[in-house]
Amino acid sequence: MEQDTIKLMKEMAGKAAVDNMVKSGMKLGLGTGSTAIHAVRRVGELLASGALRDICAFATSFQTEIECEKLNIPYFSLNSKELASGLDLTIDGADEVDPLNCLIKGGGGALLIEKIAAYASTEYVITVDESKLTDQLGTGFPVPVEVIPAARIQVTRVLEKLGANVILREAIKKAGPVITEHGNIILDIRFGSPIKSSLMETELNQIPGVVENGFFCVKKPVVYIARSDGTIETRLAS
Ligand code: 5RP
Repeated sequence: MEQDTIKLMKEMAGKAAVDNMVKSGMKLGLGTGSTAIHAVRRVGELLASGALRDICAFATSFQTEIECEKLNIPYFSLNSKELASGLDLTIDGADEVDPLNCLIKGGGGALLIEKIAAYASTEYVITVDESKLTDQLGTGFPVPVEVIPAARIQVTRVLEKLGANVILREAIKKAGPVITEHGNIILDIRFGSPIKSSLMETELNQIPGVVENGFFCVKKPVVYIARSDGTIETRLAS
């Protein structure tokens, strides 16, 4: 599929989710990435026009915080009095979505805070273009595993025993690995044969040194899928 078409589909999905789901007064989690950014921009547009009021946002990354700053979207810590009781809704993107609405997330490295936002939210919406749909998670797009730097080799060994091919995520425009917003490294893993992603999500987090992993199989989202024919499919969690 052409890059321009994919860009357009990402924008459609982000906008549609905001137009259908976001109401004035909401405590709103805002995701990270090139699809979620369209949802952020739509919220900014609606606030500027007065169509939306009194939004208290939570930004899941520096990227999203900076976009909120540009657009005058008020954002708060999850520990603040504004958001401590939780979020009404989070809108985010994903790297892959399977038929049960299980996800891989973390292509942009923000998986830890994105998962915290998902669990803190009453409603959870994922926005994707149709190229993100897959039948099987874990054998295609690599699953990010956020690991404390001191445990890099030990965790790699355990992941390999579980059947994963492990690649340390390298930075661009900085020598060495990507360092997350929480001071950790990311190991991108891919399995050679099909695995059960919901079980693997739990198993990965039991390895000492793993902070979080990019399987999102527990908190099931509603998925907004932008199709190349210009339509939006809304797929409920089954
Ligand atoms: C960031 C994420 C993103 O939501 C995911 O990588 C999808 O990004 P994009 O919309 O740019 O394809 O999980 O950590």
